[in-house]
Order: sequence, then structure tokens, then C-alpha cells
Amino acid sequence: MSLISLQLQPLTAKHIPQVLALDQLCFGGLWSKDGYLREMESPNSTLLILPAPHDQNKLIGLGCLWSIVEEAHITIMAVHPDLQRRGLGQLILLGLLRDAWRRGLERATLEVRASNHGAIALYEKFGFQVAGRRKGYYQATGEDALIMWRKGLDHPEFASQLQTWETAVGDRLQSHFLR
Ligand SMILES: CC(C)(COP(=O)(O)OP(=O)(O)OC[C@H]1O[C@@H](n2cnc3c(N)ncnc32)[C@H](O)[C@@H]1OP(=O)(O)O)[C@@H](O)C(=O)NCCC(=O)NCCS
Repeated sequence: MSLISLQLQPLTAKHIPQVLALDQLCFGGLWSKDGYLREMESPNSTLLILPAPHDQNKLIGLGCLWSIVEEAHITIMAVHPDLQRRGLGQLILLGLLRDAWRRGLERATLEVRASNHGAIALYEKFGFQVAGRRKGYYQATGEDALIMWRKGLDHPEFASQLQTWETAVGDRLQSHFLR
């Protein structure tokens, strides 16, 4: 048995319709087509997509970061609702953290709904800590955002930490995605 192909890759124009569909499914339409095209073209943005293992035209996940001075701002993270809780969110977050490390960034940050306990637990697994709260940040609901930071991306031990996480995530994915 072998692990079926789960390969993060940069967004390309041919996947824009699928990205918009996944965005609609997970966020009700957070970013527009033009927004995704801008991300694709910006050298300061990394937008990773995760095609479905058996159908490269279908998308099951995406994640994006902006590189701003020495910080990685994680702006979007999504896994198809039918495939959540199998380790794919970890795979995507790890891909973004590796990209941030390759870019030589020092720390990563993001905002998350205070009620999004699943996402918060995911970020905490990778060393993110709550550093503050933006009151009423989400206008539609008035909900607060938590601000989370992960420091130490530039520390020498972070590279081996990434390796350790990748092994653990690979093991986790094997149990769900063996052919
Ligand atoms: C947040 C999201 C990306 C997580 O993706 P996922 O593939 O389900 O996450 P994983 O399977 O890799 O989970 C990794 C860990 O995160 C935590 N976690 C993830 N979802 C959770 C949930 N619903 N409840 C509790 N913990 C959860 C757990 O610690 C989990 O590890 P475990 O399964 O060994 O306990 C996904 O739920 C999603 O797309 N949600 C909708 C969009 C969204 O909220 N994005 C984040 C915006 S900031």
C-alpha cells in the first residue's frame, strides 16, 4: 500500500473556478476572482491549493499567506467540509509555515473567530498562541477575532521542528488516505 498523491501546489489560473467554489462552500464567498488572481500574481503572497488525490481538477483545500516585512500573515485556510478532521488542515498549515521559513520570516500571525474552536486547536498544535482580541471584528455577526502569533520561525531548531511535524502529519494522513 502507498500514500495516494496529496500534493500542495501553487494556485494556477486553471484552478480559479474550483478555488471560488471551495471559498463559497467554506466561507460563503470571502474573496472574488480578481482577489485570487491578485494573490496568484503577487510575489509577497503564497497561495497553496490541494487537489483531490483521484481528480486533480477538484480542490479539497487551500491556504494563503502574505509576507509582510519579517511576518507571515496567514489570510485563508480551508478544507472541504466532507474531508475535514483527517489531517489535511495540518498539511496545509505546515506547507504555509515551511514557505514562511523558506522566505526567512521570523513569525507568523492570523486572526480567527473566537468561536472557531477547531481552527484555534489546529493553530495551537503548531505553537500559535493567543496574543489579543479584536472586539466585533466580524461585521456581519459582531463576533470577536482572536489574534494569534507563532514566533521563532527563524530559530535554528525550527527546521527540525518542521521535519518532525511533517513526519507526524504524513503518518496521520496515511491512516485516512491509503490506496
Ligand atoms: C479549520 C480547518 C481548516 C481545519 O482543517 P481539518 O482538515 O479539519 O484539520 P485537521 O484534520 O488537520 O485537524 C488538525 C487538528 O486541529 C484540531 N481540530 C480541527 N478541527 C477541529 C474541530 N472541528 N474540533 C476540534 N478540534 C479540531 C484538532 O486538534 C485536530 O487534531 P485531531 O484531529 O488529531 O484532534 C477546517 O475545519 C475548515 O476548513 N474550516 C472552515 C474554514 C475555517 O474555519 N478556516 C479557518 C479560518 S481562520
